[in-house]
Amino acid sequence: MKPKNIIRVCEPDITQREIRYVMDAIKTGHISGMAKYVGLFEKAFAKKTGVKYAITVNSGASALFLALWALGIRKGDEVIVPTFTMAACANAVAQCGAKSVFVDCEPNGNIDVTQIEKKITKRTKAIMPVHIYGHPCDMDEIKKIARKHKLFILEDAAEAQGALYKGKKVGALGDAACFSFYANKLVTTGEGGMVATNDKKLAEEVSKFRDHYWSGKGKNRYYHKKVAWNMKLSSLLAALGLAQLERLEELVNKRRANAKYYTKNLSVLKDRLIFPAEKSRIRSVFWMYGILLKKPGERDKLIDFLAKKGIESRAFFIPMHLQPSHRQNGLFPVSEYLGWNGLYLPSSSHLSKKDKDKVIAAVKEFFSKQHDTKSTKSMRKPRKENS
Ligand SMILES: Cc1ncc(COP(=O)(O)O)c(C=O)c1O
Repeated sequence: MKPKNIIRVCEPDITQREIRYVMDAIKTGHISGMAKYVGLFEKAFAKKTGVKYAITVNSGASALFLALWALGIRKGDEVIVPTFTMAACANAVAQCGAKSVFVDCEPNGNIDVTQIEKKITKRTKAIMPVHIYGHPCDMDEIKKIARKHKLFILEDAAEAQGALYKGKKVGALGDAACFSFYANKLVTTGEGGMVATNDKKLAEEVSKFRDHYWSGKGKNRYYHKKVAWNMKLSSLLAALGLAQLERLEELVNKRRANAKYYTKNLSVLKDRLIFPAEKSRIRSVFWMYGILLKKPGERDKLIDFLAKKGIESRAFFIPMHLQPSHRQNGLFPVSEYLGWNGLYLPSSSHLSKKDKDKVIAAVKEFFSKQHDTKSTKSMRKPRKENS
């Protein structure tokens, strides 16, 4: 029998403010992708992120694709992408007709900057650093490499809104950045995304490509210079996003408090677990509280054990080079280690102390019992695909 009160891995944190703004959008008829709250959200987002332009789109995946497309990435081009990431990154590159060249990660999940240069060829056009689970990548090193080889930097800040790198805001560290407002993100619109940049031309291109590439005026309104899409965010959702954005600091602080509490109370298990760390001069937002199990084979058992207690958790990403959709040969040992041994615990901003204590007690109980640590089916399967 399934437990009744499940602690979800992540749920949106919605208050009266969000309800008020969305109700206003509905009551005043500001619901399309061209209406009032779109502009308000974009303006407030650009200011908060410290960039000149912010363009709303209908998802983080669309933001990645449109940014790459507007940068001119096409067939024959290559983009450096971490293998330890979400599929949208590699999909966006493929949708442009280009190729992702995968790079292994550091133990914290972020791209291993020491391995980027050897993957650069004369076809490489861009690097896509992804700030995994809310911890910013080593951007100074990435910038040095990008400058040396004249490459664009497209930050994927989907999981890291509000994070700081040496005091600077994530999303303003490269040539352009993409955000996701999916329901589990720090700021959510249910579904949605944003491209942020200081580059006027790029902003204009993204803006046009997301909206049919309207090119005419007045009687010539239905005139389109380029093939384009409709990937706009509705003003209804922008109203929700604006209200969430006004609470960004509160939402970041809540996730950081969750992480601190988990690490403090699980530290007795440091022989069995590796906790998420924060590098110096970094403010991670701990979008998800990810832990690594030291003993191979235990991760899936812990997920099942927690599920029986009504606690949802989630396995880390399966690295991109192992996906049927993006298979690539090569050695990516750290990403594979993370992929098979990592999971994240419930991480909602509004998680109560009672819920966190329940999660902590369940994790402790798991390790206090004897468990068979033979490899599980789900561990063996993807390894086989890579052989
Ligand atoms: C790192 C990363 N990039 C891109 C995306 C895609 O965002 P969306 O789900 O809004 O399309 C996600 C979403 O989960 C993500 O985690």
